[in-house]
Parts: sequence; C-alpha cells; structure tokens
Amino acid sequence: MSILLVTGGAGFIGSNFVRHVLESTDRSVIVLDKLTYAGDLGALDGLPSDRYEFVRGDIADAALVDGLADRLGADDAIVHFAAESHNDNSLADPAPFLETNVVGTYTLIEAARRRGLRFHHVSTDEVYGDLELDAPGRFTEATPYNPSSPYSSTKAASDLLVRAWVRSFGLRATISNCSNNYGPYQHVEKFIPRQITNLLRGDRPKVYGSGENVRDWIHTDDHSSAVLAILERGAIGETYLIGADGERSNREVVELLLTAFGRRPDEFDFVGERPGHDLRYAIDSTKLREELDWRPARVDFEKGLHATVEWYRAHETWWGPQKERTEAAYAKVGR
Ligand code: NAD
Ligand code: TYD
Repeated sequence: MSILLVTGGAGFIGSNFVRHVLESTDRSVIVLDKLTYAGDLGALDGLPSDRYEFVRGDIADAALVDGLADRLGADDAIVHFAAESHNDNSLADPAPFLETNVVGTYTLIEAARRRGLRFHHVSTDEVYGDLELDAPGRFTEATPYNPSSPYSSTKAASDLLVRAWVRSFGLRATISNCSNNYGPYQHVEKFIPRQITNLLRGDRPKVYGSGENVRDWIHTDDHSSAVLAILERGAIGETYLIGADGERSNREVVELLLTAFGRRPDEFDFVGERPGHDLRYAIDSTKLREELDWRPARVDFEKGLHATVEWYRAHETWWGPQKERTEAAYAKVGR
C-alpha cells in the first residue's frame, strides 16, 4: 500500500481527489493544507482514519515539507493541488499567489528531487491565456504559455519550475492542466457556486461583462480520475491536458440554473467587468484519452449541474459561513 502526500487536500478539487483515491484504490493519504479561507476540514469529514492523516501547514515551510517527504518512499508520490486559486482575489492582492503558487511549488519540488520522489503538479488551462470567442481551435499541450492574470501567471511560473526541475535535475514529475471544475465543496467565490447560492438565498445571479465569455466545464470527479490515471500510467516529464468537451458561455450556465430554479432565464444582473477577463478556454484532451485511455464519466453537464444544485441545497451549513464574507468582498469592487 503506497502513500500519497496530497497538498491542498482540504480545498475543492483536492478534497474530491482524496475521497476518490480512498474509494477507488488501496493507497493511503496524508493531506498537507494550510486551511486558508479556501480550505475546510468539513470537506474531509468521515474519512477512514487508518488510511488518512491530516497535517495543517504551509507548503512553503521547508522544514515541515522535508519532514513529511522523509516519510515517503519510491512507490509513494506528492500530488500538488495547493494554490491560491481565484482570479478575482489575485487582482485584489497578488502577494499570496506569489508565495504559495511559486515559492510553495519550489519548496515541494526541492524536497521531491532531493529524495527522488514521484511528483504530480496540478495546474490550469489558464496558463495558455485565452482564445477568441468564435474562432476554431482549442488548447493543446503545444499551445504557447500566455497567462493574463496574477493567478494564471503564478500557475504558469510554477509549471515552468516543474519542467525545469525535470530537465535539470531529473525530477520524476508529470503536469496536468485542467479546464474549469464544478461539483461539491467548491468555494462560493467561484462562478457556479456563487450563482447557485444566490438563487438558494432568493438573490439574482451576477454575470460579469457581457456574459459571452466561455468556460470548458468538467466535473471534479473526472478531474480526479484523470490525475490518478496520470499518476499511474503517465510518462515522466510529460504534460497532459484534462477536459471533457464542456464549453458553455457564462450566460448559458446562468440560464440553465435559473430554469432549474423555476425562474425566468433573464432574471439575472450584469455586474462590473473583471479586469483582463479571459474570453474563452477550451481543451483538446486527445493526448490523455489516446495515450492513457482516460475518458470522462460525467459528460452530461446539465445533469451534473442539477446534482450540484441539490448538493448546495443540502449543505447550507457548509457554505453558509463563507457567503456573507464573500459577497461583502465582491460588493467592494462592484462585482
Ligand atoms: P481551492 O482554493 O478550493 O483550494 C486550495 C487549497 O489549498 C485550500 O484547501 C487551501 O487551504 C490550500 N492552500 C492554499 N495555500 C496553501 C499553502 N500555502 N500551503 C498549504 N495549503 C494551502 O482550489 P481548487 O479550486 O481546489 O484548486 C486546486 C488546484 O487545482 C489548484 O492548483 C488550481 O490551480 C488547480 N485548478 C483549479 C481549477 C478550478 O476550476 N478550480 C481548474 C484547473 C486547475
Ligand atoms: P471563475 O469561477 O472565477 O473561474 P475562472 O476565472 O478561473 O474561469 O469564473 C468563471 C467565469 O465566470 C469567468 O468568465 C468569470 C465569470 N464570473 C461571473 O460572470 N460572475 C461571477 O460572479 C463570477 C465569480 C465569475
């Protein structure tokens, strides 16, 4: 039985990945998470204590990271989800993005390379910048990096560090760049949970700019199965794009949600524009599908969205405490 050290395992995607690993493999998991505003131990409730351990701490704390890495061996791996992850926050204050996304990643890969540990780096399609709304083409592993925001530029920097450590030091690493995730335990600052929780509270959805911006949605369960496939079958040094052909404009998503709540599809508000707002993201995941035989399972976006609405309806005790603080921060910037 091997061990995965999962950073950011109390966040949205990390916690879903931890559950996925514990349910579908016999591995055990150590979660390292700082429990920032975005981390919540409630997302890890009920996990089997004989295969799961939680450590609170910062990925940029080299002594702590070294101590945990000393517990890992040749069959084990570090799976790195921890990040400052929200574009709007990065526009308000970039500093923690530099510290966690860049220095934190550097600290982890140093610990991994000194011990010859397997490392998987979780990243985003936003490192590629954006695509035109109505032009053909999607991101591939060959698309040049062109990030737009403090968030995406620090994720791009972290990807480049991992690539350099592979080449210069032989770090046994893989990288994945995934499109926008949705599903349970996503913080209410993000687009889909913000609109669902607005509707649950009787408020109107808030759409930036024209609402024509396109995101390529994937259920977080499919992100988890892809990361596991890359860990188990990926080639060292390779990058894999993860996506599930889920392109929708923001306006389409809001209209689907309003319909699910029995409201008219035009009952939403246009609010201020996000500075530097990327137009469109779209992933071509052919390499992952052909080389590693991975397929997304949750390909019916409307069904997945309805299940997510029901999850938030049933878990107000989880998201309620985040909501006031998040909306107060948005109100300050007119979004
Ligand atoms: P999240 O903000 O929900 O969770 C981040 C987690 O990292 C939190 O639990 C937080 O406490 C922890 N963390 C933050 N700084 C830390 C530090 N210095 N040390 C230890 N822990 C720290 O983020 P998410 O949406 O789950 O994203 C996880 C990863 O997936 C990120 O690397 C992100 O770039 C990537 N990603 C996200 C999406 C998406 O749609 N959300 C898409 C593609 C890739
Ligand atoms: P977000 O969830 O912040 O993810 P990302 O910026 O990483 O794609 O936003 C998704 C899209 O939704 C993006 O185009 C910005 C837009 N958006 C809104 O229109 N309204 C909102 O309240 C939020 C949070 C985002």
